Amino acid sequence: MSNVSAEAMDPVAKLDDAMTEAPGAIDAAKSLDDLDQVESELLGKASPIGEVRRSMGEFTPEERPRVGARLNEVTGRVQELLDEKRAHLERADEDRRLREEGIDVTLESVIFPRGTLHIIQQTIDEVVDIFVGLGYQVADGPEAELAWYNFDALNTPPTHPSRLESDTMYLDWGDPADEVLLRTHTSPVQARWMESNEPPVYVVVPGRTYRTDTVDATHLPVFHQIEGLAVDENIVFSDLKGTLLHWAREFFGPQSEVRLRPSFFPFTEPSAEMDVSCFACDGGDPGCRVCSGAGWIELLGCGMVDPNVLEAVGYDSTRLSGFAFGMGPERLAMVRYGIESMKHFIDNDLRFLEQF
Ligand code: DAH
Repeated sequence: MSNVSAEAMDPVAKLDDAMTEAPGAIDAAKSLDDLDQVESELLGKASPIGEVRRSMGEFTPEERPRVGARLNEVTGRVQELLDEKRAHLERADEDRRLREEGIDVTLESVIFPRGTLHIIQQTIDEVVDIFVGLGYQVADGPEAELAWYNFDALNTPPTHPSRLESDTMYLDWGDPADEVLLRTHTSPVQARWMESNEPPVYVVVPGRTYRTDTVDATHLPVFHQIEGLAVDENIVFSDLKGTLLHWAREFFGPQSEVRLRPSFFPFTEPSAEMDVSCFACDGGDPGCRVCSGAGWIELLGCGMVDPNVLEAVGYDSTRLSGFAFGMGPERLAMVRYGIESMKHFIDNDLRFLEQF
């Protein structure tokens, strides 16, 4: 069998030769590109292995199983060697990239400034925490509200001026039975809560509220309120005053006193405005930045829940009584920190926001 041409060579011998050469050729590849080239030289159509694969149909039925078995064996082994080498080259590539692109720990890092909660949110959290400490639950309700909850359930007659479009932003206006509006206060959650919860009720309701006000030093069209509601057996007016006094001392300091002045709200009877004693002066200092010498700061509205409100939500007003209050965190923050305009809350000026 000397001097046989490549074509005439025994296909199994040809495969054996290819198998002998393969490890050296694969090992010589220095890069992934090299290896692709070697792969096509070893397994491609024009390679000795490729030639045997293409000529399988020409072998006799006796020869075919022997050649086929060796072909599969050699192809599989060469492929294995190629895969090993490829994994090796890829790892080396990766190592080199990591070395080249590695992190330089001596470089100055980027500093991401850490924000704080907005002063209004901080104020809300602080007030809510005080009431949670007294055992109150926290409730919320929709900002797009039915006129029924915003007004009617709260004993506010259809003719009340606050229901006019000039005061209230309506989403759906006309038929009082299904008017939808942006709630003008957090009080509607009083009715919603009582409707779906049995007494006793002790809840605070922080939330966003809306009125057709133009932005100025003391008004924002979108602002916040914190509502409070307590309904139980035997709740009397002194419970209201004691609770709010406790809150005022926690919020403004232990020396605080409160005073109640008669007022009117449709959903409370009697109703009152509550003032807190000035925490910045002892009263009588006409130059005081907080009270201008009045000695008292007007803070919030409150009162005993009107029996009509209890009846509107199906509570028995002969057995139950309660008190309610509503305060504005914008006003609380202004008073406490000496902020002279509400505009600061929405200006998004970091020089202001960063102070809190
Ligand atoms: N909802 C009232 C307002 O927006 C504030 C208020 C007053 C709430 C008296 C109350 C209350 O719960 O009893 O002006």
